[in-house]
Amino acid sequence: MSTHFEKVQIKEVHRETDDCVSILLDIPDNLKDKFSYLPGQHITLRTKINDEDIRRSYSLCSSPLHNEWRIAVKKVDGGIFSMFANHTLQQGDEIELMPPLGHFVLQHTNDAKHYVCIAAGSGITPVLSIIKTGLANQPQSQFTLIYANRTRQSIIFKEEIEALKNKYTTRLQVVHILSREHTEAPLNEGRIDAAKCEQIFKRIASLEADDFFICGPEEMTLAVKNWLQSKHIEDKKIHFELFNTENTNKAKKKTNIIAGNNDEVSHVTINLDGRSFDFDLPFNYASILDAALHQGADLPYACKGGVCTTCKAKLLEGKVEMDVNYGLEPDEVAEGFILTCQSHPRTKKLVVDFDVK
Ligand code: FES
Repeated sequence: MSTHFEKVQIKEVHRETDDCVSILLDIPDNLKDKFSYLPGQHITLRTKINDEDIRRSYSLCSSPLHNEWRIAVKKVDGGIFSMFANHTLQQGDEIELMPPLGHFVLQHTNDAKHYVCIAAGSGITPVLSIIKTGLANQPQSQFTLIYANRTRQSIIFKEEIEALKNKYTTRLQVVHILSREHTEAPLNEGRIDAAKCEQIFKRIASLEADDFFICGPEEMTLAVKNWLQSKHIEDKKIHFELFNTENTNKAKKKTNIIAGNNDEVSHVTINLDGRSFDFDLPFNYASILDAALHQGADLPYACKGGVCTTCKAKLLEGKVEMDVNYGLEPDEVAEGFILTCQSHPRTKKLVVDFDVK
């Protein structure tokens, strides 16, 4: 994984709804290979706002088939970057980017597949990339999109989704669910939870689908995932991504510093870019990432919430405990990969390598 940021320009800032803009990134020709992506992946941004180093990761909503890199940023109460993107960022501004990452992806196939996608709010961004790409390059495949928003007005990419529906009439089915607006059918009202899943899958979507893609706030995402598991859908068919709100980060930052018995201390060695450095870290204190940043290390990270995997590294020696892990696949964990923003030492010596792919 490349941990280095590249400076790129903003090509366009486009207002999508009252509280959401999409941002087209101008990736120069010499970086296009490095920034190539699969539909559903996300990208990490870095900028300075009021002298503060701000990093965020956002899913690409564009399709790689169109040689385009676009993200959407919805305003979050008190969100430093989302406010900046919605009110200040302009065409021609520069921003730093890390190459795309993530496992929430649509794999290419020539087989006829049926995909069910369930998104809420800005959770539509990776799902839109998946649907656009799959409709274009999997001509035998079908998509069902269940998309939850507060009102009709707040539906992000409403026109684009309508246009896809019109273009692929027999291969894309879209069902909107609104939480703060009355609709003619009760099915289209409310929130997506287990009870709503029962209705949706009884009347519209099929549990026989080949893959399920879920993206939205934690509560909805986990409710749908758990419901699908309760219906005996195999884990390998359930793909989910939590969208990463700035509020989640704040909550996580607080819990990263755990009070308690700090008698036990681990000697931590970090390998990065072919060099290494060491420091001591109590078992129940800051995460490995926070402690290393405090030492002045320039380590990769974005969400600090266990979601984006930007801080992924391989544990070469010792044991850690992760607070949460929403980003690593079970086989990566089995291979020894960890999210350093979530990891606390559980042995007296740790060797953590950011260079291993
Ligand atoms: S920084 Fe996002 S998972 Fe660690």
